[in-house]
Amino acid sequence: MALILGIETSCDETAAAVVRDGVEVISNVVASQIAQHAVHGGVVPELAAREHLKAMNPVVCSALREANVTMRDIDAVAVTRGPGLMPALLVGLNFTKGLAAANDKPLIGVNHFLGHIYGAFLEEGNKALNSADTWPMLALVVSGGHTSLMVINADGTAKQVGMTIDDAAGEALDKAAKLLGLGYPGGPIMEKTARNGDDTKYKFPRPLCGASGKPLAPEHKFNFSFSGVKTALLYHWRKLSENGEPTEQQLYDTVASYQEAVVDVLCRKTMSAAQEFKVKTIVLCGGVACNGVLRERLELKCPVGVTLRLAQRKYCTDNAAMIGGVGYHSFKNGQIDDLDIDAFARLPVISQVPFIG
Ligand code: KG4
Ligand code: ZN
Repeated sequence: MALILGIETSCDETAAAVVRDGVEVISNVVASQIAQHAVHGGVVPELAAREHLKAMNPVVCSALREANVTMRDIDAVAVTRGPGLMPALLVGLNFTKGLAAANDKPLIGVNHFLGHIYGAFLEEGNKALNSADTWPMLALVVSGGHTSLMVINADGTAKQVGMTIDDAAGEALDKAAKLLGLGYPGGPIMEKTARNGDDTKYKFPRPLCGASGKPLAPEHKFNFSFSGVKTALLYHWRKLSENGEPTEQQLYDTVASYQEAVVDVLCRKTMSAAQEFKVKTIVLCGGVACNGVLRERLELKCPVGVTLRLAQRKYCTDNAAMIGGVGYHSFKNGQIDDLDIDAFARLPVISQVPFIG
C-alpha cells in the first residue's frame, strides 16, 4: 500500500490530492484562479505564480486534512515538472522539494501530459490498465496547451503520432470566446452558448483534413491546425458586424458552427488514427474532454470492437489526483528524482509511459 501526495501548479489551478495505490482518490483539492485571470481575458503567468504562492500551503493542508492523514503517512510526493507555464511550475516544484526534504520523503517529478492520460484510469478505470484488451490504446489529449494523439502499447512504449502545428483546441475555443466578447475560460462558455445555435448555419474550415481539395501531406495525416479556423471566425464576425451588431441568434449559430468545426476535426483525426494503428481503446482526456458535444460525437463514431474511455469530467481539467496517480507508478518502479530536478515548459518526446508494463 502506498499513499502519494500529488501537487499540480502548471497553469491556473493550484491542486493537491492524496491517492492510494494509483487508484483510490482519497482527497482532491483544486483552487481555481479563474476569477483573477478573467479580468485579463486569459492566464497571466506571473499572476498565476503569485496566486500559487498564496494558495499552495492551504491547498496542500486541505488535501491532507480531507484525507485524514499527515505527512508522516505519505510515502512519496509527486509534482508536475512540466509542460506548463514556467513561473507557475516553479512555485509548485520548489514548494514540493521543500516539503520532500523537510519530511524526508521521496520526490517524483511527473509529466503533466501523461497525468491527463492517467486521469482516464483513476478509480474504477484502473482495472483497464492491467487488461490485455486495453492495448494498444490511442489517447486524444485536448486541453488549453495540447492537442495530441498518442499511441501507447501493452509494454508501455509510446509514440506521439499527431499534434497541433499551431493552436491547441482549448486555445482555439478560448481565443474565439475572447474575440466574441464571451469571457474566459472560453471552452465551457462556448459549449453553453452553442446549445442555442444551429451548428450547420455557417461553414468553418476543417484544416489538415484534405477537405480543401488539395491532397493532405502525409506528415500531417494526424496533425491538427486551428489557427485558420480562428482567422475564419474573425472575418466571419467582421462581416456579420458590417451592418451593426449581430443578433443573438447569429452569435449562437456562429458559436455552434465554430465548435462543430473543432469537434469534427478532432473526431475525424482520432477515428482515422484509431483505424491506422489498430487500437483496442480510445481515451479522451484533458480540459476540452469536458465538452459534451465532443464526448457524444466520439461515442457515436467509435468503431465496434474499440472501447472508448472518457475521463471523468473532474479528472479532465487540471487536478493533482492524476499527478499522484502517475507518481505512484514511478514510485513503485523505483523512479525517484533528485532534489535538483528542473521544470520544463514544453512537451518532451515521450517514448515510454511509467504506468504500464
Ligand atoms: O486541462 P486544462 O484544465 O488545462 C491545460 O492543461 O491546458 O484545460 C483547460 C482548457 C481550456 O482551454 C478550457 O477552455 C477547456 O479546457 N475546457 C473546455 C470545456 N471545459 C474546459 N473546452 C470545451 N468545452 C468545455 N466544456
Ligand atoms: Zn492540463
